[in-house]
Amino acid sequence: MKTFYIETHGCQMNVHDSEKVAGLLARRGLQRADSAESADIFLINTCSIREKAEQKVYSRLGEFRPIKRLRPGFVIGVMGCVSQQEGSDVIRRAPFVDIVVGTHRYHEIPQILEQVVADRVPVVRTEPMDDPQPVEIDAALRESAFRANVTIMEGCNKFCTFCVVPYTRGPERYRPSRNVLEEVRRLAETGFVEILLLGQNINSYKDPSARGLNFASLLRAVAEVPGIRRVRFTTNHPTDFTRDIMDALEETPTLCNWVHLPVQSGSDRVLRRMKRLYCLDRYLDIINSLKALTRQMALSTDVIVGFPGETDQDFAETLALIDQVQYDSIFSFKYSPRPNTPALKLDSREGVSEAVKDSRLAALQSMQQRIQMDRHSRLVGSEQEILVEGKARDGRKSFGRTMSNKIVNFESENLSAGQFIKVRITGYGANSLRGVPI
Ligand code: 5AD
Ligand code: SF4
Repeated sequence: MKTFYIETHGCQMNVHDSEKVAGLLARRGLQRADSAESADIFLINTCSIREKAEQKVYSRLGEFRPIKRLRPGFVIGVMGCVSQQEGSDVIRRAPFVDIVVGTHRYHEIPQILEQVVADRVPVVRTEPMDDPQPVEIDAALRESAFRANVTIMEGCNKFCTFCVVPYTRGPERYRPSRNVLEEVRRLAETGFVEILLLGQNINSYKDPSARGLNFASLLRAVAEVPGIRRVRFTTNHPTDFTRDIMDALEETPTLCNWVHLPVQSGSDRVLRRMKRLYCLDRYLDIINSLKALTRQMALSTDVIVGFPGETDQDFAETLALIDQVQYDSIFSFKYSPRPNTPALKLDSREGVSEAVKDSRLAALQSMQQRIQMDRHSRLVGSEQEILVEGKARDGRKSFGRTMSNKIVNFESENLSAGQFIKVRITGYGANSLRGVPI
């Protein structure tokens, strides 16, 4: 029996795509290997959102060149966003690669593998699918037994000037609500309690079936599936963050009180050049409406520093925004020039130096650390319900997550992943809380 190993880089959608491919292979009778080196088939699921992520793929692939030389039957496949972006160039740069599969073609992987094993000729399969709905793969072999990733849409129609996603994932494609709900029901029946809905632009979801649900109504329907205790969703675009989504959050206790709303910059001038389609006032309207809900919402965001032409003044406006909103967490990145994107040209004319990017990133992150310490300090003494996720590395402490997506470490025996417990918060750091079971 042949064995496979899938290594995943990048976002949660990639994690879930790997789960689907693992399921397809398991269904064909292949077995998971313990390591890439010991497997018969090695698949690397790649990310190209920033240059570093892409470089990592090629340096990782390089490590497999000697293995391939020793074991010519070893099959190496590349999937994900780098495959979609580079196509056969992947094989030009890494000639020992056997398979390059684009983001629309994962359902073909078992058949491609058979072909490669039989013919020993590399296969590149990256043509986008014309079908307006993503191909259903109902085989996912999930990593968790209590939290399930569920894709509801893929792709992006926004074309922010810095971003490769519209090119690597293609135009938006939505799953029919019936398929999503059937999947969630099946998951609930098999013991899953938390659902993480996934989509590159999740809140622009439009049900392609006759039922015609919008995102807010799909959220409510998923949250009402019996047995499901927590529903999260990521990631959002501010322009499609409509009032009815906020109403759903307010009125549906199983929807988690956490919203990830990427802002990218606090400067209207930069937002325009990024083609983000909103201005700061509009963004803050949404944030303020979320803060005005009776349920207290945790907020997080993505920020890019050093977008081409970003001035000290622009960056100061980003810091001011971060200070004003007081996010629970942020993901911050140095702008990275990407192939095919309009900002690439801007970058060659008015790129921000690496040193300036570094210092802006450090300033942003240290401000956010202070904000998180302050926000966490206010939770000391409070009671929180935790979904236990597992044991910490030391084997003694366990950790779990609050509804608002905060990590809590606590000491407790006889607790296993997937259980709910109540803890009292007793301490904190910038990135997590400590608690004792009540
Ligand atoms: N450079 C840096 N960060 C980027 N992101 C997307 N494209 C780039 C890029 N070219 C960030 C954005 C996005 C997150 C997923 O990655 O902040 O929201
Ligand atoms: Fe990229 Fe903008 Fe689409 Fe998000 S909305 S995936 S940042 S192009």
